Amino acid sequence: MALLIDGKKISQQVVEEVATEVSDFIATYDVQPGLVVVLVGDDPASHVYVRNKIKRAAEVGLNSIEHRLPATCSQQELIDLIEALNNDEKVHGILVQLPLPEHIDEAEILNRINPVKDVDGFHPLNVGSLSSGKPSLVPCTPLGCMIMLKKVHENLSGKNAVVIGRSNIVGKPMAALLLQENCTVTILHSRTKNIEALCAQADIVVVAIGRPEFVSAHWIKPGATVIDVGINSIERDGRKKLVGDVDFSSVEEIAGAITPVPGGVGPMTIACLMKNTLTAAKIQILAKEVKHEFN
Ligand code: GUN
Repeated sequence: MALLIDGKKISQQVVEEVATEVSDFIATYDVQPGLVVVLVGDDPASHVYVRNKIKRAAEVGLNSIEHRLPATCSQQELIDLIEALNNDEKVHGILVQLPLPEHIDEAEILNRINPVKDVDGFHPLNVGSLSSGKPSLVPCTPLGCMIMLKKVHENLSGKNAVVIGRSNIVGKPMAALLLQENCTVTILHSRTKNIEALCAQADIVVVAIGRPEFVSAHWIKPGATVIDVGINSIERDGRKKLVGDVDFSSVEEIAGAITPVPGGVGPMTIACLMKNTLTAAKIQILAKEVKHEFN
C-alpha cells in the first residue's frame, strides 16, 4: 500500500512558517504584507476558491482584500484596477482569479500585473525566469507539488518524471521545476502516442488534466510517486463526490506514495499563495531599501 502524502498536514507546516515570518516582517519593517484577489463574474467554483484564499491570508496575518467586478465589466475597467493596485504600495501581491469572462483577453490582463506583485507567477517575465532557471515567483500549484515531492524524495536528481497535462498553470511550470531538480522530464498530453507505456516508466508522475480518475494502476510503475492535481466533482451512488485525475483506489495498491483528493495538492496551492505573497513583500521592501540607499 502506498504512503499517503498528507497535503493538509504539510500545508499546515508551510502556513505556520509563513505566519511566523509575516509576524517577523511586520515587527522589522512596520509594514503588513498585503494580498488583493480580484474576482470577475459569478463562476461558483471561483467564488469558493477566492473565499478560501482570503480566509487563509487573514489567518497568516496578511492584509487580504477581495475585489469583485461584475461579469459585464470591460477589459479597460479591469486594467485600470490592476494599474491602481500596481501603484498601491500597501499591496504586495495581486491575483486575478481565472477563468475570466470570454470578452476579456486573459494574456493581456496577466501581462499588466507588475511582475514583482505577480503571486501567481503567470506574468511572461516570471514564466521566462522560471524556464531559464532564474529566481522568480513560481506558480502556486507546481510549487506545492515540489514541496510534497521533496518530503518523499531527498534527492530528485536523475529520476524519470512524467507530467501529464501541458497547461500554463500547472503542466509547463511543473516540468520546469522538475528539470531544475535534474529530473529527466517528459510531458505527456492528449496527442501523445503510447501514453500509458510512457507513464509506466516514470519514478514520479504528476497528473493535471481535469479528467476524473483517468490514470489507473496499469499506467504506474510499482513504487512510483504519484501527485494528483485534479479536483473533479462527480456523482456516484446518487451523491456528489470530489475525485482526482487518478483512480486512487487502484493506484494506491501499486504506487510507493500518493496524494489523496481532497487533502492533497489543494491545500498546498493556497499555502504556497501565502508563501509567494510573503516573498513578493520581501522583494519589494528590499528594492525600496536599495533605492533609498542610492538616493
Ligand atoms: N484558477 C484555477 N487555478 C488558478 C490559479 O492557480 N490562479 C488563478 N489566478 N486562477 C486559477
